[in-house]
Amino acid sequence: MKTRVAVIFGGVSVEHEVSVISALQAIQHMDDTKYEVIPLYISKDRTWYTGEDLLDIDNYKDLKGLLQRSQKVILSRGGNNSVELHKDPKPRFGKSYIGEIDVAFPIIHGTFGEDGVLQGYLELLNLPYVGCDVLSSSTGMDKVAMKHIYRDSGLPILDYVWFYSTEWNEDQDSLVKKIENTLSYPVIVKPANLGSSVGISKAANVDELEEAVELASEFTTKIVVEKMVQNMTEVNCSVLGDYEAAEASVCEEVLGSDEILSYEDKYTGGGASKDSGASKGMESTNRVIPAEIGEEKTREIQEIAVKSFQLLGCSGVSRIDFMIDKGEDKVYINEINTIPGSLSFYLWEPTGKPYKQLTDELIQLALKRQREREKLMFSIDSNLFSMSNLSGGKGSKK
Ligand SMILES: Nc1ncnc2c1ncn2[C@@H]1O[C@H](COP(=O)(O)OP(=O)(O)O)[C@@H](O)[C@H]1O
Ligand SMILES: [Mg+2]
Repeated sequence: MKTRVAVIFGGVSVEHEVSVISALQAIQHMDDTKYEVIPLYISKDRTWYTGEDLLDIDNYKDLKGLLQRSQKVILSRGGNNSVELHKDPKPRFGKSYIGEIDVAFPIIHGTFGEDGVLQGYLELLNLPYVGCDVLSSSTGMDKVAMKHIYRDSGLPILDYVWFYSTEWNEDQDSLVKKIENTLSYPVIVKPANLGSSVGISKAANVDELEEAVELASEFTTKIVVEKMVQNMTEVNCSVLGDYEAAEASVCEEVLGSDEILSYEDKYTGGGASKDSGASKGMESTNRVIPAEIGEEKTREIQEIAVKSFQLLGCSGVSRIDFMIDKGEDKVYINEINTIPGSLSFYLWEPTGKPYKQLTDELIQLALKRQREREKLMFSIDSNLFSMSNLSGGKGSKK
């Protein structure tokens, strides 16, 4: 029997549309002799849908019509430790049961999908899933938590200052002082937990800093300010595997049309090819593969990439983004993306791993983790309530 894979996409994130593109691409590259794909689309209002029509990107132009033709669903626990898909609400006539799911494949970028929230839900259902677990997802998503861990392990990251927007509102002056003492202008201001360059801007003086923090505060309460690398090369490297074994892909050099690689640069291939790029996902970005940075830098980046992946306890495929400060000739980790755009397949193809093999390995890693989990004990087989000294409602206080 084929393994039933529920690909979960869409979601409540500024990267909703990108997720749809990444997911439909991945579905086209799953081995249909081994896997049966069940699309699970989460709308922006958090309703879950399934249905064949969700598999065609053109249908999303008329989203309302598409959702009317699709089936609202929920996941629930079935017998024998299974997870089932049911129509929701239960139909007045006929059954609600649609089928069983063996493994989930989350392809949602950003909030609620890449940050551990969805992963926690799947854990509670005991449904095996592709990719990072709760902790690695959430630390990977939060730029502050990620920086703390990397700094603690001696991995190269840029100097930074972080704060909550309420602290900024209450005592802006001392935060400005702290920023100016720790870093020098220009600086980059970012929301701690978004993606796709949303809410990020550069500040060359205190007035611009104020504006930049205000912009970032529109999106989040946790803000990071870091040193701006002015003369840089952006290089990304993907890592595939888990805590036991992981390998690095080829590196790519990303070419932006602006100082800060924008949402448009990333998904529409810069200015010129906006029409065709939007449906292609991440691989349409202006990029050079492999990055022309020499063998030594390539190896250095690949090594740091694998370390930063395993240090967070990642699983599946991640993409680690680097900045090379050309002035200092130094490599810095910018961030890790635990569900990268297009799952970074275009970095694996040049290593001789076709997209179909990548999705296959990802699903197999998920099943491996589940087998390992099943050997662990999550409960202790004793009935505390049947013990005689627990009577009288006093609990353990004696
Ligand atoms: N410290 C920095 N110096 C120079 N450019 C930066 C710096 N941090 C980010 N950028 C630019 O902004 C882009 C987005 O920042 P990033 O931290 O990757 O946020 P996101 O999670 O939104 O992708 C980067 O790809 C890079 O072009
Ligand atoms: Mg980025």
